[in-house]
Amino acid sequence: MTTLPNIVILTGAGISAESGIATFRGPGGLWEGHRVEDVCTPEALARDPELVHRFYDLRRAALADVEPNAAHRALAKLDAAWPGELLIVTQNVDDLHERAGARRLVHMHGELVSALCAACGARARHAGALPPGSACAACGAAALRPDIVFFGEMPYRMERIEAALAAADLFVSIGTSGAVYPAAGFVQLAAHYGAHTLELNLDPSAGSAAFDESRLGPAGVLVPEWVAGLLQELQ
Ligand code: APR
Repeated sequence: MTTLPNIVILTGAGISAESGIATFRGPGGLWEGHRVEDVCTPEALARDPELVHRFYDLRRAALADVEPNAAHRALAKLDAAWPGELLIVTQNVDDLHERAGARRLVHMHGELVSALCAACGARARHAGALPPGSACAACGAAALRPDIVFFGEMPYRMERIEAALAAADLFVSIGTSGAVYPAAGFVQLAAHYGAHTLELNLDPSAGSAAFDESRLGPAGVLVPEWVAGLLQELQ
């Protein structure tokens, strides 16, 4: 009985691009029109809470106009069918993986559909606008902020992610530029522990040379093809 490979999948903005959500560093990317320093740092939040809260209110509202694409659906199908260990680690803050049906999923950079209390640390589902000074249901403080990991803050679930990488036999990176750590270093960590590493991306990324294999193309084509091949092995 061959043991089934443990799989860790990292996703970035590129997997949501075909759903119409702009990536960060492409032409017309989200950061254009906004300097990162103006909307995604603790200093920006302290300096101009209205601007920061409004930036994420707009992105949260835009979720109503987008749908998961074939790549999200293929990963959800793999998650449901794979009898071995599997974890999807997303850098994305949209909810498209969940809406496609993914369950074994962690958001390392936070989520638009969640609010974080800066006073007590409670996180709670949140829909609609989140004006500065909104009250926390857990502690009552008027301290709710977007539940987004800002530059310079610690990503979420790193212990679980590092444990999964240490046990991975297969690490697949989908739609990320490899520009931001710690996610950009996951391929080296997985390879150090003996995983086979595969990149599925539209363009070569900053980390492409670190992968055993890179396939270039749109996620909506490459991911369903890759999942179909893997599930074929289960037959
Ligand atoms: N299919 C596959 N890959 C795509 C597609 C597509 N249709 N469209 C774009 N890509 C690729 C691009 O080639 C690029 O390598 O997706 C990647 C997007 O890179 P970024 O815009 O840098 O997004 P990401 O890698 O997720 O950024 C990482 O940086 O700004 C922070 O916190 C933010 O989580 C984000 C992190």
